[in-house]
Amino acid sequence: MVYQLKMNRIMKYPGSKTSVIKDIQALYNRSGCRTFVDVFGGSGSVSMNMDSRNIIYNDLNRDLYTLFTALQKHFAQFYRAANALAMDRKLFFDYYDGRIVMDAENPEIERAFSIFFNFNTGFGGMGETYGKKDKSLFGNYRKNVSNLIKASHAIDRMKIENMDFRSIMEKYDSPETFFYLDPPYPGKNWYVHNFTADDFMELGRVVVSVKGKYAMNFNASDALPVKVFGKPSFVREEANQNGRPGSTQSRKIAFYTNVVATAMR
Ligand SMILES: C[S@@+](CC[C@H](N)C(=O)[O-])C[C@H]1O[C@@H](n2cnc3c(N)ncnc32)[C@H](O)[C@@H]1O
Repeated sequence: MVYQLKMNRIMKYPGSKTSVIKDIQALYNRSGCRTFVDVFGGSGSVSMNMDSRNIIYNDLNRDLYTLFTALQKHFAQFYRAANALAMDRKLFFDYYDGRIVMDAENPEIERAFSIFFNFNTGFGGMGETYGKKDKSLFGNYRKNVSNLIKASHAIDRMKIENMDFRSIMEKYDSPETFFYLDPPYPGKNWYVHNFTADDFMELGRVVVSVKGKYAMNFNASDALPVKVFGKPSFVREEANQNGRPGSTQSRKIAFYTNVVATAMR
């Protein structure tokens, strides 16, 4: 029998990359680098599951910075507040419908909690509800609250940054740095900060000039990456949350990397 360790995951997030963690870890190990920089960190699903002594989590979205910082500084109080709603369906929906507010006697925690709640019950940072008011809404929230305790150990190890990709890459670039790059795709406005075609071209210029190593992910079906970066180093077919590899629901993820990648095929 094969047992798999459960991945750390604390929120629903569009474009989250838990399905390719093994490939990212393998490239990082192969690179010989000592610092892992998750440049477009999003939900933290990559940073929280990487094995490295130095992990830098970065995202331009201020809410994500506020949430991860509060989880580091005030975990016990945050968890108590989040768990109170996970234990009581009525309280959960009272908060969801705005009939009650959270009083954690600390505005930083209250703000971080509302961000966590919004990510878990709405569409990421955009605040547009996609979660239906049904059983799965409460169930998913409960699941992610119960994931918090294990994830908090991983979050404690991360250094948290809130910078544009150009600045963070300049700040940490060295021959010992590995950049993981999972940018938004131009034309898909899923996030608070999205990417223009110019940002994409700029990222293309930055990656070719780094002293360190990098691995970059795109959906293999997107045309622009091939135009800008050429053929990917390799492609992984992964199941999405509802499907299996080979099913119509699975997606193909392209990897571009300057770590010798032939052995990864
Ligand atoms: C595809 S998502 C990353 C998903 C992440 N790998 C995960 O597993 O959750 C892209 C992220 O890039 C962030 N972002 C957008 N523009 C950025 C910029 N100029 N610099 C840094 N981050 C940016 C967005 O806020 C979003 O969270």
